[in-house]
Amino acid sequence: MNHLLSTEHLDRSTLEELLDEAEGFAEVLTRPIPKVPALRGKTVATMFFEPSTRTRLSFEKAAKALSADTVSFSPGTSAISKGESLKDTALTIRAMGVDLIVVRHTATGAPWRLAEWLDIPIVNGGDGAHQHPTQALLDCLTIRQRFGSLDGLKIAIVGDIKHSRVARSDIFAMTTLGAEVILVGPPTLLPLDPEAWPVSVSHDLDSVIEEVDVVYLLRVQTERGGASVFPSLAEYATRFGMTPERFSRLKPEAVVMHPGPMNRGVEISYDVADDERALILEQVTNGVAARMAVLFRLLGGEHDA
Ligand code: NCD
Repeated sequence: MNHLLSTEHLDRSTLEELLDEAEGFAEVLTRPIPKVPALRGKTVATMFFEPSTRTRLSFEKAAKALSADTVSFSPGTSAISKGESLKDTALTIRAMGVDLIVVRHTATGAPWRLAEWLDIPIVNGGDGAHQHPTQALLDCLTIRQRFGSLDGLKIAIVGDIKHSRVARSDIFAMTTLGAEVILVGPPTLLPLDPEAWPVSVSHDLDSVIEEVDVVYLLRVQTERGGASVFPSLAEYATRFGMTPERFSRLKPEAVVMHPGPMNRGVEISYDVADDERALILEQVTNGVAARMAVLFRLLGGEHDA
């Protein structure tokens, strides 16, 4: 593995190795000094052209827990505002002696361009509505910790799948690890050709709610046009939101997940978001360990952590 751009072509053994490594790092993060020297001397750059809370901070935390240095680039305060191109910006950052770049960009495919231009590993931190592979790793890690394995689990991914890079990455990782994925949403929020993916489709959350092990809720991506395709957010909440009533009909061991940022009262009710069977903060915690596994694999795999 030279880069991590997508989950689409990751095979089962690579995914399992990354999750096993992440488990080990999750243990490191519970120690009094949550740090190992594995990537001492390496520098990780984050280059985020879109807002982020979880992804950027957890990559920085992951790099630091591996003893790497971090530098961070933000377009608003950079020479991008003076007209510098993506390529020149990336070459500039590389020329400072950076060893790996995590990039988030509004344009689908931007991380692949960086991987062509630069001779260092590139990690996709989210490109347009396309891919967000480390989110899928942390989601699978969270599910595996809870259920032991993804094999045979039924996972409903609910909501704005059309605009969701999280869904695109999760679908491939979850099904490769043996889960069955059902996409649930109004037809206008589903992609035009879901049959191209290894999934089934439902437009009725109530008809699947009692049979699933995981309900994975997505935010309606208003910034990508998500809210323009149904009458109102209130109607969306009524038909596709995780209300207390729907939550009460889940199997007793079933869990609720969300990649964040949540819009409480829309895709998830206030109370459900705080329930102990909502794994949202465990996902965030696991994000650090999953990203440590990725950085370690790309930058230091030959050493023993
Ligand atoms: C998501 C993203 O930015 O792709 N958040 C995240 O990384 N945890 C999902 C979203 O914005 O809804």
